[in-house]
Amino acid sequence: MRNQKDLLESVLGKIENNLKNDINADELSEDFSLSSVHLQRLFKQAFNKSVGAYIRSRKLSASIRDLLYSGLNVQDIALEYGFSYEQAYILSFRREFGFTPGDLRRNRYLVKTTLPLKPFGQMSMYENYFLVGSIINEKYIDDSYFSLIKNHFNTVTPQNNLKPILLTSNRGGAYNWDYADQMVNRVLENGIPVHGHVLVWHDWTPEWLTKGTKAEVDDNLKNYITDVLTHYHGRINSWDVVNEAIRDNLSAVETTGDWKKCLRADSPWYKALGANYIETAFRAAREAAPDITLYYNDYGLEYPRKADAVWKMINDINNRYKKETGQERNLIEGLGIQSHYNIKNFDENKVRSSLRKFTILNIELSISELDITTSAYEEGEGKDIVMTEHDAAVQAFVYSRLFKLYREYAPYISRVTMWGIDDHNSWLSAGNPCLFDRYLIPKKAFNAVFNTAK
Ligand code: GLA
Repeated sequence: MRNQKDLLESVLGKIENNLKNDINADELSEDFSLSSVHLQRLFKQAFNKSVGAYIRSRKLSASIRDLLYSGLNVQDIALEYGFSYEQAYILSFRREFGFTPGDLRRNRYLVKTTLPLKPFGQMSMYENYFLVGSIINEKYIDDSYFSLIKNHFNTVTPQNNLKPILLTSNRGGAYNWDYADQMVNRVLENGIPVHGHVLVWHDWTPEWLTKGTKAEVDDNLKNYITDVLTHYHGRINSWDVVNEAIRDNLSAVETTGDWKKCLRADSPWYKALGANYIETAFRAAREAAPDITLYYNDYGLEYPRKADAVWKMINDINNRYKKETGQERNLIEGLGIQSHYNIKNFDENKVRSSLRKFTILNIELSISELDITTSAYEEGEGKDIVMTEHDAAVQAFVYSRLFKLYREYAPYISRVTMWGIDDHNSWLSAGNPCLFDRYLIPKKAFNAVFNTAK
């Protein structure tokens, strides 16, 4: 006889794969050879909701993608998700979210959806707030790490494998999809959504892509974006289109002026195309894959001047786009706030005011690359430095403050992604920035994050 955990996992998997079919508790109990009462009791005990209510919430939440990004009318969407008629769908939708599908379409409200339950990992405690993600890389695809990912995280970002230099080393449209595809497919096969990182960046980009006349580079930019988004269409539903376009150490005067004056001039894209490369990139991405969520991603957004410049850039590009298209839909629909912090200079108030500022943009926010280094990092030594008890405690405290803050801002935050699982494999290994140590044992920081969810 299968154990309860496996059984409930299979039930959840079955629900997830049948959101567009007419699935209900009776059918599920038949499929799993249980009495309906028994299944209901197990489900309620584990998740504190009925099977029917969960299926309904998942269907309604999944339908939001179609409402926002497909041309289907409301009736078609209702039928697609197994509602017997349009009114039944509209009524359930209003009960769930407080407004109708039509209202959502017209006004593009930010909604808190019901995410798929991931009941047996501790991070699933955040299920009602946002997705909790991890990176994936050559190491983490190995079972010891991958099973940990499956257990604790419900979204994944490839750390490097989708970066331009790894996808296209040769001029003339020769792509190296194989390894990235294997990785992306393995993650998807396990029911975990993938966030794409990154299309346009000053780093990790082959030289030929940004060399040539202005017209050639402009073509390269558009073709590259189109090719990659087309290749992953249907597999990756959100992408960092542009990464790190704004420079550091801006003066007060610079940030009160034109955001275009705040761009990093050392970006080869900027050198070739000037400030317009950002808008060109987002427009090409929208055209290539209208149904995906396009992100701008950057670090240091807790510093008010950099945050102001990013805010202005997104607002300006979005306003122009909306005016031109006459639609309410934004071009840049997401902001990735990298969040590489250090326990010594962490300033909660700064992080809070920057979050608050970005909520006004009315786009989704994601904490895209979270890690918190300790003092060892500053000393600049190598790997596997043993953390002091004191550092471990301070780090745990900072993590818990942050997750408390994220919970507060949960209506705006769709994803919190850890930039590394364990200290040994982290890019900032010497600073021991992760939730798990080199033996994959949960650290004080992990427990702090977990306890903050309660
Ligand atoms: C930036 C990038 C990431 C990664 C880190 C270092 O934050 O966005 O892709 O390269 O630097 O690991």
